[in-house]
Amino acid sequence: MHPTDLHIDPADPSPSGILLTNAIIPFLGKTITRDILVRENRVVACAPTGGIELSADDASSSLRVDATGKLLFPSLIDAHTHLREPGFEYKEDIASGLHAAAYGGFGTVMAMGNTRPVNDTSSVTRYMLEKAALYHPHGPRLLPVGALTVGLKGAELAPMGELAEAGCVAFSNDGRPVTNTEIFRRAVEYAAQWGRLVIDHCEDEFLAKGAHMNEGESSARMGVKGQPTVAEALHVARDILLSEYLDLPIHLAHISCRQSVELIAFAKKRGIKITAETCPHYLALDETRLERYDASAKVSPPLRSPEDVLAVKKGVSEGLFDMFVTDHAPHAPHEKDHPLNESPNGFIGLETALPLTWGFVRQGLLSEQTLIRMWHSGPSEIFGIRINTFMPGDPADFFLFDPDMEWKVSRETLHSKSLNTPFLGQTLRGKVTAHWIGGRRII
Ligand code: DOR
Repeated sequence: MHPTDLHIDPADPSPSGILLTNAIIPFLGKTITRDILVRENRVVACAPTGGIELSADDASSSLRVDATGKLLFPSLIDAHTHLREPGFEYKEDIASGLHAAAYGGFGTVMAMGNTRPVNDTSSVTRYMLEKAALYHPHGPRLLPVGALTVGLKGAELAPMGELAEAGCVAFSNDGRPVTNTEIFRRAVEYAAQWGRLVIDHCEDEFLAKGAHMNEGESSARMGVKGQPTVAEALHVARDILLSEYLDLPIHLAHISCRQSVELIAFAKKRGIKITAETCPHYLALDETRLERYDASAKVSPPLRSPEDVLAVKKGVSEGLFDMFVTDHAPHAPHEKDHPLNESPNGFIGLETALPLTWGFVRQGLLSEQTLIRMWHSGPSEIFGIRINTFMPGDPADFFLFDPDMEWKVSRETLHSKSLNTPFLGQTLRGKVTAHWIGGRRII
């Protein structure tokens, strides 16, 4: 069994076959409609409409789904999510977080280790996997990301071998950047021994200390302490130099500013083993969104200047980034409904991610192929996650997306436990209308 496969209980009967017809798979061409045949959790065939020869058995037993007017996507991967369990179940738990993921089009989510207790022991990793198997036995899949250092304190390496064996697919100190470069270097080397990647939250803790937003025109106007972009870029540069020196890969989390984009372009040109992610909000919003002192838009790294937004957009459209991630970070109202300087960083993103990024496709900022690479094949290659490419034998993980359906972001439409999103009350365009994982309909 592949480590990222779902555990399918042999006592649980597999779903009947499915014949899905008239679907447009956007990255395979916008004009040709296709039919998909699924049997026993796997894709059996995918061909232009009318091109699949059905056996008598398939013709009689398959459930027929007409996908006319909808886009068909393979289930996406979110390589950077905070599901908050164990310890912060009042914000989100594994059941509600995976539920939101299913509605967002995600078949796999990688859950960060800044839980309570921190995911720095195999018992926490196993607990997370057991909860996911209990509440979502048919997916979405949860892949734990282990802590890089004990308690995320940055002083002592976490037991990565034990964590990898328990099921951690990567390691990160997300939320608590590692300042000690000696420790960070050892972590990169040790993780590589286990065939795992380090995901680095790039931030100089001294430059970022006490900041509640980006340092720039808005922070100056508002009288709020800001974090300079160089706080991120310094660590990006550090990681690039380390990666080259060690000849080992390092993955850069949630990149938000021009300087980082330029450094990553330099590193990639030199063939350094750096990969990088950004989030939809670093393209959709800028620092001026905080000028109403609205903590729902407070996030780490912070929303940057319009110039940074342009640079990140350019990086995405030129294919510099390897993936989008949501950085889904739920917080409760009693935490977020506070003045900017008292509220925690982060907002939810699992259910707004695809509508926002499909909007970028609509605006011509990125192609359908880039979109799918960034939510699907990019993270699959980098983290070794099996995906559906609509080839025979692939896992039957896919969803239908109505690109024109408009919906209001609200308590009624979201499935996450928390509501902390700067898009609350806004109307977005595009919605997942049905989702199958392993050939089984999950929403
Ligand atoms: O805004 C953020 N929130 N950034 C992080 O890196 C951590 C996250 C959280 O856990 O809330």
